[in-house]
Amino acid sequence: MREVMGIQGGWYALLLGACLLGGAGHTLAAKVKLEPSNWGHPAGEACASCHAKSSAGLTQQWQDGAHAKAGVNCMDCHQAAPGDSDAITHEGQVIATIVSPKDCGRCHVSEVEESQGSVHAEAVAVVGDRLKALADNLTGPAVQAAGCDQCHGSVVKVRGDGTLDPATWPNSGIGRVNPDGSKGSCSACHGRHEFSRAQARDPAACVRCHAGPDSPDKEVFEASKHGMAYVAHRDKMNLGSDTWVAGKDYSAAPTCATCHMGAAGKLPASHDVGMRDAWRLNSPVSEKQYLIMFTDGDKRDLPASQEPPKRGAQFEKNDGTQAEVKFVVPPDRRRQAMQSVCLECHSKAVTEGFMKQFDNVVELFNAKFAIPARDLMADLYAAGKLTPLPFDEPIELTYWELWHDEGARARHGAAMASPNHAWWEGMYLVGRNFYTRFLPQVREVAGADAQALIDRHVTTKDQHQWLKDGQQTNPILGFGKREAGGG
Ligand code: HEC
Ligand code: HEC
Ligand code: HEC
Ligand code: HEC
Ligand code: HEC
Ligand code: HEC
Ligand code: HEC
Ligand code: HEC
Repeated sequence: MREVMGIQGGWYALLLGACLLGGAGHTLAAKVKLEPSNWGHPAGEACASCHAKSSAGLTQQWQDGAHAKAGVNCMDCHQAAPGDSDAITHEGQVIATIVSPKDCGRCHVSEVEESQGSVHAEAVAVVGDRLKALADNLTGPAVQAAGCDQCHGSVVKVRGDGTLDPATWPNSGIGRVNPDGSKGSCSACHGRHEFSRAQARDPAACVRCHAGPDSPDKEVFEASKHGMAYVAHRDKMNLGSDTWVAGKDYSAAPTCATCHMGAAGKLPASHDVGMRDAWRLNSPVSEKQYLIMFTDGDKRDLPASQEPPKRGAQFEKNDGTQAEVKFVVPPDRRRQAMQSVCLECHSKAVTEGFMKQFDNVVELFNAKFAIPARDLMADLYAAGKLTPLPFDEPIELTYWELWHDEGARARHGAAMASPNHAWWEGMYLVGRNFYTRFLPQVREVAGADAQALIDRHVTTKDQHQWLKDGQQTNPILGFGKREAGGG
């Protein structure tokens, strides 16, 4: 029987450093054991033998997985209490079609605890009013179920007879709000009905959602040396191994799961994918983030520009309610956790040098483009030059794409070592669009006030000085004079 660490275990000890914890016993919770008396429901055999005929493929997938091998049957997962809102009576048994994280948590305590309160679990909440502006106004509500919700998750609605409303299900979005109130869908990464570890360790588990203009992690990974090494050496990755510690069980390449979830050295694996991220990259201006842990097990990020609460203080959670702060993890600790993964395969100099290059790109993006653009937009709204309605004016789309598309690509490219995304798909387009689309649109919208506005936020800043240095020679585009003998 495998033993797994509870959430309060080694992971936080490492984030915080042993000195801060001072060996405080309460953060080193008991290990959680899989308890065989939890499974082997007597009604399960009948389910499997009938479904072997009515849905043979599904039953075969279950047969091939670790659950069937350990004796975990259909009823062990699908059983429901008669009072559950989505309970149905099926072949004489009370079952539910949805098997929520809470149901998995009957056996897998730590994975469920780690997931709850993670960025992934907040993926429905984060959509907020963006949903209205993008899905409903810019396009139409019909796209929500097939688009946003498939990645972020739907709020699953149950009809009067216990069946699931097709406007909200099927869905395996990462932060799905289940009828029992739990958040997430474990089959987002562990495809049913095999629920394999090996499959979730493969980048393919993540890239269904992490691809495209604003979170191009698939493309970034493929274009990086890590992606190159992964493709060349997939057979050496030991993906099906019982333990999967970087540098010990495999060393050929890291996958998404290695850096964001996997075990390395003393750092244990965790289902909280955001814990090792120092920045929030997908925002108009990036800020480093504190991680605040509450005594009730919940957690939230807090931008580093804000004063972090003290241990024991009451502080606001993501859902707006107050709770007691257990401890605060500063951004550099989160970075250290990430770096401890790199250090299994790289030297300190390579790791820290790389992080420096990455942080420099984020800071360049912030200072030169993101902050001036944000402030210009704020002034235009304040002066009544733009309607408060989002996306009804061209400059709003230009601004949105500047940070959300090319701006995000540049930051993700620099974070995960794709020079193509850091530059051509990223910062090159940020620069081009800032000077040749965004500023001309500011001039159009602001009219007579334009120059004063642009001077205040742009031209007077050091990084934009080149605009004024009209004397500089211009060797680009093949117009400049060539060195003698130059190609
Ligand atoms: C005698 C055959 C039979 C038995 C026994 C049986 N099922 Fe089914 N089950 C079916 C059929 C047929 C369907 C409908 C398939 C379809 O909709 O295409 C179904 C549907 C389901 C669904 C899907 C419901 C939905 O909303 O889509 C689930 C979940 C399910 N069964 C689980 C179970 C479980 C758990 C058991 C054991 C308690 C069980 N079944 C026992 C035949 C059976
Ligand atoms: C480890 C837990 C687990 C076990 C064991 C399990 N299921 Fe499921 N099953 C799930 C999850 C998770 C889903 C996805 C539902 C959701 O969206 O949450 C699901 C979905 C289903 C569905 C609807 C899926 C579809 O694609 O149409 C059926 C039918 C079903 N299960 C039947 C069975 C049967 C029959 C067995 C036994 C042979 C079984 N399940 C064993 C967890 C389990
Ligand atoms: C292909 C999957 C996918 C689809 C479709 C999708 N998102 Fe996202 N979304 C993501 C991922 C992945 C992130 C996380 C980006 C990051 O932090 O790197 C994200 C982040 C966000 C964020 C937070 C930061 C940001 O980039 O603005 C909001 C808000 C958001 N999405 C809203 C929406 C809305 C509204 C829709 C539909 C109109 C939508 N998303 C469609 C995958 C998707
Ligand atoms: C974001 C993708 C993702 C989601 C969502 C996810 N998992 Fe995992 N899971 C993984 C990865 C990756 C591994 C392998 C981790 C490793 O070994 O480094 C894993 C491993 C596991 C394991 C094996 C642990 C062990 O000791 O080897 C269990 C059990 C598990 N997950 C349960 C769950 C449950 C329950 C949920 C829903 C609450 C869930 N997972 C949701 C990616 C995911
Ligand atoms: C009734 C107990 C029970 C429930 C409920 C349960 N599991 Fe498991 N799970 C197990 C057992 C037992 C194993 C096998 C452990 C082993 O091999 O050491 C396992 C193994 C796993 C693994 C590792 C698979 C591998 O490749 O080795 C994953 C992932 C997993 N479960 C995910 C889930 C998810 C997701 C759910 C909910 C949809 C779930 N489990 C529900 C008992 C359960
Ligand atoms: C079903 C879609 C989906 C899958 C699969 C998925 N993610 Fe995500 N992920 C999201 C969405 C949506 C967000 C944004 C959520 C938010 O901002 O609250 C996100 C956010 C993240 C973040 C950002 C955390 C932060 O600090 O802001 C990381 C890192 C991440 N995912 C890693 C992964 C990894 C690694 C995998 C695969 C093992 C994975 N994700 C699988 C949808 C998904
Ligand atoms: C070599 C390690 C490594 C690999 C492999 C890797 N990442 Fe990352 N990822 C990072 C680092 C480092 C960051 C920046 C973290 C920070 O904010 O300090 C990052 C950032 C992210 C973010 C944005 C989080 C934020 O800070 O807003 C997402 C989302 C993400 N990665 C998803 C993925 C996915 C999906 C894959 C696989 C396709 C992947 N990563 C592969 C190391 C890695
Ligand atoms: C499991 C091992 C492993 C882990 C973990 C890992 N890498 Fe790598 N990394 C590699 C391999 C293999 C290469 C390709 C080396 C080569 O072929 O030259 C590589 C290449 C690189 C390169 C390109 C170096 C060059 O000279 O072009 C950088 C930069 C890099 N990794 C940074 C990181 C960072 C930062 C982390 C942690 C966030 C990390 N790596 C985690 C294995 C790993």
